[in-house]
Amino acid sequence: MMTGKTLFISGGTRGIGKAIVYAFAAQGCNVAFTYASSADTANEIIADIESKYGIKAKAYMLNILEPDTYKEVYALFDQDFDRLDFFISNAIISGRAVVGGFGPFMRLKPKGLNNIYIATVDAFVVGAQEAAKRMEKVGGGSIISMSSTGNLVYTPNYAGHGTNKAAVEAMVRYAAAELGEKGIRVNAVSGGPIDTDALKAFPNYEEVKEEVVRRSPLSRMGEAEDLTGACMFLCSDASSWMTGQTVVIDGGTTFQ
Ligand SMILES: NC(=O)c1ccc[n+]([C@@H]2O[C@H](COP(=O)([O-])OP(=O)(O)OC[C@H]3O[C@@H](n4cnc5c(N)ncnc54)[C@H](OP(=O)(O)O)[C@@H]3O)[C@@H](O)[C@H]2O)c1
Repeated sequence: MMTGKTLFISGGTRGIGKAIVYAFAAQGCNVAFTYASSADTANEIIADIESKYGIKAKAYMLNILEPDTYKEVYALFDQDFDRLDFFISNAIISGRAVVGGFGPFMRLKPKGLNNIYIATVDAFVVGAQEAAKRMEKVGGGSIISMSSTGNLVYTPNYAGHGTNKAAVEAMVRYAAAELGEKGIRVNAVSGGPIDTDALKAFPNYEEVKEEVVRRSPLSRMGEAEDLTGACMFLCSDASSWMTGQTVVIDGGTTFQ
C-alpha cells in the first residue's frame, strides 16, 4: 500500500518518531527523517530498515529551534527523493532549551516558553509549508503534527508544552482549511503519556508513570508504538475525508 511513497518526519532517532519510522518502513514506505545530535543512531536506523524492509532511507541534521533551516534540509531531501507524500512534525526540544518553559507556573519565563513555541508551532509551519509545495506536485498528501493530551489534562510542569500543543492543534485546523484544495489533509495525533526519553526527563517520572497506569482503564503506560497506528491511518485512504482533526490516543486517561 505504501510502496513507492515517501514519508518525511522530524526527530526519527528516538521514542515516538523512531517507532513511526519503523512502522512506515515496514509497510514499504521510503523514509526521510531528521536528527539533532544522534547522527550515529540515525545511520544505524538507516542501515537496519534498508536491509530489513528493502526501502530507501536518509537522515538529515535539523535544529527545530531554527525552523527556517528546514528549507536547506528539504533541498537535500530533493536530491535524494523524487516525491513527498507524508510529513510528520514530531521532534521536540528538551534540556537546556526548555528552561523557563518546563516547570511550575510561577517559574515560567518568556525565553523558555518562546523556545517551545518556535520548536512546536513555527517548526510545524515551516516544515508543513515546504512539504505542501512538494505534495502539490504529486496531487496531494497527508500532514500530521504530533500533539499531547497535556493540553487537555493538567500535567505538572507541562504548562509550556501543553499551551503550545493547543496552539499547534489550532494551526493544524488553519492549515487544513487552506491546503484541502491541493488535496492535502492536515491532522494532529495527540498522545497521552508515552514512555520515552522526553517523559523520563520529567523530575517526577515515576509518579507520572504510576498515575497513568492508575488512571488508564487499560492499566498500563503508553508505548511509542501505540501512536503509529493513528499515523498510518491518517496517511491512508481509510481517512480520505478526514482533515483538521485531532486523534486522541491516551489509553483512556483523559476522561478518568
Ligand atoms: N513522550 C510523551 O509522553 C509524549 C506524549 C504525547 C506526545 N508526545 C509528542 O511526540 C513527539 C515525540 O516525543 P518523544 O517523547 O518521542 O521525544 P524524544 O524521545 O525526546 O525524542 C525527541 C526527538 O526529537 C529530536 N530533537 C531533540 N532536540 C531537537 C532539536 N533541537 N531540533 C531537532 N530535533 C530535535 C531528537 O533527536 P536526537 O536523538 O538527535 O536528539 C529525537 O529524535 C513530540 O512532539 C512530543 O511532544 C510525546
